[in-house]
Amino acid sequence: MGKRIAVIPGDGIGVEVTREAMRVLEAVSEVYGLALEMVTFDWGAEKYLREGVALPEGAVEMLQREYDAILAGAFGDPRVPDHRHAREILLGLRVQLDLYVNLRPVKLLDPRLTPLKGRTPEEIDFVIVRENTEGAYVDVGGVFKAGTPEEVALQEEITTRRGTERIIVAAFEYARTRGRRRVTLVDKSNVLRYGHGVWQRVFWEVARRYPEIEATHQYVDAMALLMVQDPAACDVIVTTNMFGDILSDLGAALIGGLGLAPSGNIHPGRVSLFEPVHGTAPALAGKNVANPMGAILTAAMMLDYLGEAAAARAIETAVVEAIRADEVTRDLGGSLSTEEVGRAIAARVRAHAS
Ligand code: IPM
Ligand code: MN
Repeated sequence: MGKRIAVIPGDGIGVEVTREAMRVLEAVSEVYGLALEMVTFDWGAEKYLREGVALPEGAVEMLQREYDAILAGAFGDPRVPDHRHAREILLGLRVQLDLYVNLRPVKLLDPRLTPLKGRTPEEIDFVIVRENTEGAYVDVGGVFKAGTPEEVALQEEITTRRGTERIIVAAFEYARTRGRRRVTLVDKSNVLRYGHGVWQRVFWEVARRYPEIEATHQYVDAMALLMVQDPAACDVIVTTNMFGDILSDLGAALIGGLGLAPSGNIHPGRVSLFEPVHGTAPALAGKNVANPMGAILTAAMMLDYLGEAAAARAIETAVVEAIRADEVTRDLGGSLSTEEVGRAIAARVRAHAS
């Protein structure tokens, strides 16, 4: 039975890294007989500047109806300084497809890649479960007396019990099904007493339903410290939209940089969207130098979600081997191009099959 994948490369290096992710998907698809059917969509800055359209009319329904998953690159372009199309496409799909789980693994693939002295891959292996549809990302607010010395702005952070409960349940379910032992709630409930008070109440309530999993709590500032000082204490972290955004960049730094960090925007059981954590890196765009490994690992996450665990592991193994063999781009100290890294990983996937 084939799977239909909507591919949205987007802008900047998103285009180049997605091409390599597709190359690796094609290899793994042949080896494992997955019959993946990939259809590319040109949604991004070019189209937006040309036609004024970011997310085309009916796109959300079409994706829900016709596709099993979405693989995205990155969105953003210096020619669209207000980031309007990027917001409409990425945040629009997260909200309209109700992709409330943003899964961001932080897994060290090679001891040489971490800036933390002496840390091993066993010690840096955790996952951030970021709430992805509310919090500070709801775009609710306004300005009064804009541009005057009396200017006042309101930017609301929205917390719903339903939204909080479902992401906390997702974190505990992730822990239960993946054999993880601890779930840590990260918030700022000592200051944001109302919104994060909901997180506190719901978290301890849900935790009681999972007695086999240890439940712990950290304030977000302490968590930033802990991630650097004692990453082995981190296992499954569940947190708000904004804190998850910030901590996932810190997490990426621990494993060798944004070029290596994958993510999934998931609504369990529904069409979900997978994208590398990095952005469009305009300074690197079109130069064939960006690291495609984040996008390639993202493709592996997507296969995992689609129930193709063996194919997903094959990709991850190929990436680990490529890093070990110094088949890497310059951000990791190598000299290979984006395309050469993609080809090297695809070749490794194929070599294992024969
Ligand atoms: C991310 C990005 C996005 C976010 C931006 C591009 C809106 O930083 O996916 O982490 O803040 O969620
Ligand atoms: Mn981010």
